[in-house]
Amino acid sequence: MHPLQCVLQTQRWGPLASVSWLLLRTCRAHSSVPSTACPSLERQQEDGVRKDFSSRLASGPTFQHFLRSASAPQEKPDMEDPPPYLTVDELLGRQRKVYLETYGCQMNVNDTEIAWSILQKSGYLRTRNLQEADVILLVTCSIREKAEQTIWNRLHQLKALKTKRLRSRVPLRIGILGCMAERLKEEILNREKMVDILAGPDAYRDLPRLLAVAESGQQAANLLLSLDETYADIMPVQTSPSATSAFVSVMRGCDNMCSYCIVPFTRGRERSRPVASILEEVRKLSEQGLKEVTLLGQNVNSFRDSSEVQFNNAVSTNLSRGFSTNYKPKHGGLRFAHLLDQVSRVDPEMRIRFTSPHPKDFPDEVLQLIHERDNICKQIHLPAQSGSSRVLEAMRRGYSREAYVELIHRIRESIPGVSLSSDFIAGFCGETEDDHLQTVSLLREVQYNMGFLFAYSMRQKTRAYHRLKDDVPEEVKLRRLEELITVFREEATKANMASVGCTQLVLVEGHSKRSATDLCGRNDGNLKVIFPDVEMEDVNNSEVKVRAQPGDYVLVKITSTSSQTLKGHVLCRTTLKDSSAYC
Ligand code: 5AD
Ligand code: SF4
Repeated sequence: MHPLQCVLQTQRWGPLASVSWLLLRTCRAHSSVPSTACPSLERQQEDGVRKDFSSRLASGPTFQHFLRSASAPQEKPDMEDPPPYLTVDELLGRQRKVYLETYGCQMNVNDTEIAWSILQKSGYLRTRNLQEADVILLVTCSIREKAEQTIWNRLHQLKALKTKRLRSRVPLRIGILGCMAERLKEEILNREKMVDILAGPDAYRDLPRLLAVAESGQQAANLLLSLDETYADIMPVQTSPSATSAFVSVMRGCDNMCSYCIVPFTRGRERSRPVASILEEVRKLSEQGLKEVTLLGQNVNSFRDSSEVQFNNAVSTNLSRGFSTNYKPKHGGLRFAHLLDQVSRVDPEMRIRFTSPHPKDFPDEVLQLIHERDNICKQIHLPAQSGSSRVLEAMRRGYSREAYVELIHRIRESIPGVSLSSDFIAGFCGETEDDHLQTVSLLREVQYNMGFLFAYSMRQKTRAYHRLKDDVPEEVKLRRLEELITVFREEATKANMASVGCTQLVLVEGHSKRSATDLCGRNDGNLKVIFPDVEMEDVNNSEVKVRAQPGDYVLVKITSTSSQTLKGHVLCRTTLKDSSAYC
């Protein structure tokens, strides 16, 4: 028999097409990891558990079970209804301690909290101490080779931890979650025998079951990509009780298929969360006293809630001028402008940001709304990727340099004082020195306030991998990247200089990491602002002097800047509504 035993299982809570593979394999490495002070007894017990599990698995899910499941309406798994080969008890965490480690983007930060929320409900405890952990879960990123290499290295360290585990403790379980699990699938299980579970980005609801299977010494994986999973009903747990801001995931996946990007393969098709559930989460966060919400999505402004039939009569919105898509036009649904409008009305004292948008989805109504609404930050991330139309075409970005620059002008006209940021890739397939210089010139022309710059990393499965040649030598990529970083920094410093002498509204986050006598916060453009922690007036009560606390809005007069940070002195404590005073 093939060592990889595959049980085809229909997800009860997914649509008919959602068929998940539960990959189970007996792991030789695990059988040599004893787990209690009395190894022989424990081994007997483990053997018993394994035999019991195997016999239940053999008599487990029947064809009828799949048929029954397949026709069930969409519903979420619950603890009272375990799969036939597990008991309710086995699905519970039994106070096991979980250590979660996050790599990559903000989506992963949010996914970590979703995964934790699911495990917490199932009886797991969380620990911040690696040595204390019974389960270690890495929420991973695949966007560049380097990101994956970091995880492989980490796995080697964890392997040592697992091997050295005291026999008196339950065996340590290790799981890979997210993009890398999805991209490498069995390769991880084969290469790293100490990995117990794999869960793709749409399989976090399945974590209690995967961990229960791992308890019996089997490896388990669910790498199903869903067409509709948005975790809409799962309220991520706020990691830091003193946090002033939170991320709210509004859509998942990406349909754009830029030729260099692995994301559509690891995170699947684009799907949006219903507006009503987003508003409910934002309301709860406002009640908890949070002062800033960042709406998250791989393509946040492609948002389209089609969860109700009547939404399909909504007025359709256009793409930004000069932009096209790699997919057939989509129609109907509640769009990003509607979402932004509704979210910003929940609490006028709550700042709203969003990331990461695609430049194609900035119709005039979105720009107008950002301009009009005081609590929507005047900050737009506009990933350009390259300044050369030829490279943009090879990247299949759906716009030329000219269309991108026209959009920048339109944004600056619609939203005076807007702060702009971008992503760029150095050394994409076929990029010439001239193409590179065009990117340098775009950086000079736009003068971004923030930038995220990367050397190109070829990813398997992508269009570039199949059709193009990764022909820019590594040292040239790195040299070009260095040049882009230098130019970006020079221009950002100039752009930030314009705020010296201005009064800016800053949301206080806490003390500065570098000095206990300074406070640190963020301005509307999301730049860090540092200022001395001194007493000040409150605009609504000039009688008393106050000290700013995390979550307070203060007015700060900017006195100096660098490419990343602003410095100044505080004028008073205020509210977002009362603070329309700027430069
Ligand atoms: N190589 C380098 N950078 C990449 N990005 C996406 N894919 C790759 C890749 N293969 C960058 C893009 C994207 C950001 C999130 O990561 O700039 O906007
Ligand atoms: Fe990747 Fe392009 Fe989708 Fe962004 S828009 S996630 S770069 S495919």
